[in-house]
Amino acid sequence: MCGIVGILGTAPVAESIVEALKRLEYRGYDSAGIATLEGGHLTRRRAEGKLKNLELRLSEAPLEGVIGIGHTRWATHGRPSEANAHPHASDRLAVVHNGIIENFRELREELKGKSYTFTTETDTEVVAHLVSAEMRKGLDPVDAVAAALPRLKGAFALAFLFEGVEDLLIGARQGPPLAVGWGADEMYLGSDALALAPFTDVITYLEDGDWVVLRPGRAEFHDEHGNIVERVKQRTVAGALLVERGNHRHFMAKEIHEQPEVVARTLAHYLDMLQGKVRLPFEFPFDPNALDRITITACGTAYYAALTAKYWFERFARLPVEVDVASEFRYREAPLPERGLMIVVSQSGETADTRASLHYARTQKQHILSVVNVPSSTIARESHIVAPTLAGPEIGVASTKALTCQLAVLACLALAVGRARGKLSAEEEFRLVNELILLPGLMADVLNHEATIEQIAHSFAKVQSVLYLGRGTNYPLALEGALKLKEISYIHAEGYAAGELKHGPIALIDEVMPVVVIAPSDRALEKTVSNVQEVAARGGRIILIGDARAAQEAAVDLSGFVEMPAMAPDFAAIVYALPVQLLAYHAAVFMGKDVDQPRNLAKSVTVE
Ligand code: F6R
Repeated sequence: MCGIVGILGTAPVAESIVEALKRLEYRGYDSAGIATLEGGHLTRRRAEGKLKNLELRLSEAPLEGVIGIGHTRWATHGRPSEANAHPHASDRLAVVHNGIIENFRELREELKGKSYTFTTETDTEVVAHLVSAEMRKGLDPVDAVAAALPRLKGAFALAFLFEGVEDLLIGARQGPPLAVGWGADEMYLGSDALALAPFTDVITYLEDGDWVVLRPGRAEFHDEHGNIVERVKQRTVAGALLVERGNHRHFMAKEIHEQPEVVARTLAHYLDMLQGKVRLPFEFPFDPNALDRITITACGTAYYAALTAKYWFERFARLPVEVDVASEFRYREAPLPERGLMIVVSQSGETADTRASLHYARTQKQHILSVVNVPSSTIARESHIVAPTLAGPEIGVASTKALTCQLAVLACLALAVGRARGKLSAEEEFRLVNELILLPGLMADVLNHEATIEQIAHSFAKVQSVLYLGRGTNYPLALEGALKLKEISYIHAEGYAAGELKHGPIALIDEVMPVVVIAPSDRALEKTVSNVQEVAARGGRIILIGDARAAQEAAVDLSGFVEMPAMAPDFAAIVYALPVQLLAYHAAVFMGKDVDQPRNLAKSVTVE
């Protein structure tokens, strides 16, 4: 949440900072700003709303400085407004911040006592004044930052720019990610490698607690105790990854349509397609036979991937699985089995609650396996084993292709653990792997039905609420369908296990509220069909996502039918995810919503 960037350049940097901020806009987009030095003096431009407002401001009043910092905001403290937009400035410096300063009230009172006045509602302004207060004591900028950082509690990535100092940027990291980019003549700071990809592919990531002093052509890294430390330079592939919409109207549409390809790529990484076997790109550093259970944690859509995986690990590996949302898990102090396996699932690899759960699991001596989409992310670096999803950058704030790739990886892991534990025969493995291999083709087939799905989605535009029902692995998908619709169309939606219908939600059924039933031909079909009939008997409006057999067995009038190709049921949820995503997408587009940047959301949730 919030994207930060800094450039120590050789030519005016404002345009490049805007370019980097565009790549960070997924992290927040309620205001943006830039500060540079012109003739040694700090000059700022800030604007409420999307980055294009800042661009407009810059076109009216350009910034000429060759060193600068920039920010795109997801508000935590203080409403989105120009006054609260970063960079925040004190008399001698400007700062941009991603995260939360937890002790800002206390520091604010202290600084007011030193005659600092506060002009914003943000927590960040204290950082600017705190460093300024150290400089007033006579410290130079580097020593002032070194003195101020230990006083900050909370989570932060920071970039500082100093009045009158044309050759210095300072970055600091405690929690949210921060990377240094090495250019030919220029030095960069950015929240991720993707932001810096137009300028360089040589990156050094700050470790937690690090701060860095950037001067032309060099970077001096300090650890949390102030010791000078070495941090490795790495080449990233971020530059090679396209972050263009192509012919699609939105990133979300592009990412939905990429799924056959990226799921195929991900599966190829974990399967031996010729032999029909799972072939993991790593060895387990533990004996799967010694496991008593698995714990999985994640947030949001990734949590629904984890819930789905529970069914697979339990069925194929005969292992009990506990799944919890990371924001709960981190505080539960759950007892974990000696040297157990903890799986964390995260697209960004930066989600604060998921990271904190990982840290807890480490204190409990768990083996940590992370399923992440950003291989250079903090969660990946803090794990013992990384199982990458090869979805490529996901820019749309609503997760789509990351989910199906997470599911593909988790399915392969469940089969691998099942085989290793002797719970899955070679023949079953062969059968299941062949089902996995068919998924990308089935997904491509579903995308051909988009026009029908779009028609149905238009009928959502006037409703207050939508109910999603599913059983087994399609129960988490019902939850995901409801989440997807809520977050981009702002229509209230709920997901339920279909069997729970008669325990309460059936009271909601009327002739207006659509009930989306996810019903592949699996062993629960008969039961799901009974639920469909219960809804029909009460005059409910049913939208069935199922194959021809499901429609035939339901034998009721449907308000909408998304006909799915026939397929084996085990991993059908991976294919059924697509119509669920498309329903939300087309409902939101029809309603004129900003699907790639829905209100109040941000893609990378690096604060609690
Ligand atoms: C929903 C969505 C979020 C994320 C959640 C976890 O469309 O994108 O619910 O799934 O914030 O994010 P990651 O996977 O980055 O940990």
